[in-house]
Amino acid sequence: MEMHEMLRKVPLFSELDDAELRAVASLASSIDIRKKSTVVQEHDPGDSLFVILDGEVKISTYSSEGREVVLALLGKGSFFGEMSLLDEEPRSANVTTMEDSKFANIRRRDLVPLMMEQPAIALKLLSEIASRLRKTSRVLERISSMDVPHRLYSYLVDHCHRFGRHDNDGRYSTILPTHQLLADQLSTSRETISRAISQLKKDGILVQGEGRGKMRVDADALEEMLDDF
Ligand code: CMP
Repeated sequence: MEMHEMLRKVPLFSELDDAELRAVASLASSIDIRKKSTVVQEHDPGDSLFVILDGEVKISTYSSEGREVVLALLGKGSFFGEMSLLDEEPRSANVTTMEDSKFANIRRRDLVPLMMEQPAIALKLLSEIASRLRKTSRVLERISSMDVPHRLYSYLVDHCHRFGRHDNDGRYSTILPTHQLLADQLSTSRETISRAISQLKKDGILVQGEGRGKMRVDADALEEMLDDF
């Protein structure tokens, strides 16, 4: 598929017509990166935006004790690298690929004139930054006010609503991230997550689903436990 066709599916550029998409495509370079590789390194200088045409990335940083803190997981159609592009400070986090991925890379000197011409792009960028800030604030609030099991319950409820399939019996079928990735998102250790998951299994709130890695989650029970907290 040609670059301008792939860019058509990217929400950031949804207001652009075909000629405008071709113009953006001519400014972008295509980059293929294998699974588990670094795309952007924290503290490096950077002046370009990456649009995810295919694959998934993890945005993370390291705590002073060396623990990986996962700030976000971003998939196809999303973008990253806008922070250094906008404020000209070094990269704020590491970005690594979770899968083989394909990116469109656009430099500051090409994107800024484009945003001036097409304010809709700048507005979309701002709106996405606002929703990421909301999400990060919510996570920060949970980390500072909840114990690990409750952080996990609220993460699971969000995860079910975003990615799960709602079954007739009220449960959600979904594939959960690995215990390590859950731990890195919830600021705790893998062992603590494994203990909390085992307890949820014992209580019948998590049950094995059909198919590899599938879980069936009683999200209502989790919400009740959160209400009682
Ligand atoms: P930049 O700082 O250029 O490089 C790292 C990128 O990670 C950053 O731009 C954002 O695109 C992304 N990023 C940094 N912090 C967060 C966060 N809290 N939530 C989502 N994405 C982030």
